[in-house]
Amino acid sequence: MAKYKLGIVVGSNRRDSLNRKLAEALAKLSADKFDSKFLKIDDLPLYNQDDEADLPKSVARLKAEILACDGILFVTPEHNRTIPAVLKNALDWAGRPYGKGAWTGKPAAITGTSPGAIGAGIAQQHLRQVLGSGLAMHVMGGEAYISFKPDLLDASSSFTDQTTEGFLAAYMDQFATLVGRFAPARHAAAA
Ligand code: FNR
Repeated sequence: MAKYKLGIVVGSNRRDSLNRKLAEALAKLSADKFDSKFLKIDDLPLYNQDDEADLPKSVARLKAEILACDGILFVTPEHNRTIPAVLKNALDWAGRPYGKGAWTGKPAAITGTSPGAIGAGIAQQHLRQVLGSGLAMHVMGGEAYISFKPDLLDASSSFTDQTTEGFLAAYMDQFATLVGRFAPARHAAAA
């Protein structure tokens, strides 16, 4: 069976991002189903509608990368109880110009982490609304709010707790099923 092409968007531009570590572990955990590629968003300029007619190179690159993916996994921190500006900037850029957005119709799954007890849950709820209502993505149901503890992952990006690993493996399996509903041709052709 061919693997699906998964684009991973990490909503943090921090060098030692916890969310990037979580995303790397999820890519590893789902490697039997997805070929994962991290989509770079930290080199985009600040969104400006004046530049839509001639998109900055980094934006054009991001849009092309999104279009080549079967599905997108968002792994985001929470900043002041919503999504970080760097993520909103990428969502806005790649969703433009109106009618030519790259996100439209793509399956999406959402997770994220913070050291807090509710694991970036409010940001994830806000993101769900932006992706579904604003950008017309097909957002998977369910939720995966991960409270980050120092021992969540080991040095090889594996989850140390079997319950957490099992929960997230099931979450990624569920996403592969959803992606498969939107990308049957690619999967069948390479089977
Ligand atoms: C935070 N942090 C945070 N955490 C949280 O659970 N809820 C929140 O609303 C906020 N707000 C917030 C605002 C700003 C500006 C910063 C810089 C941080 C803490 C946050 O969870 C922590 O810094 C994580 O490490 C961010 O994730 P990355 O960047 O490590 O992936």
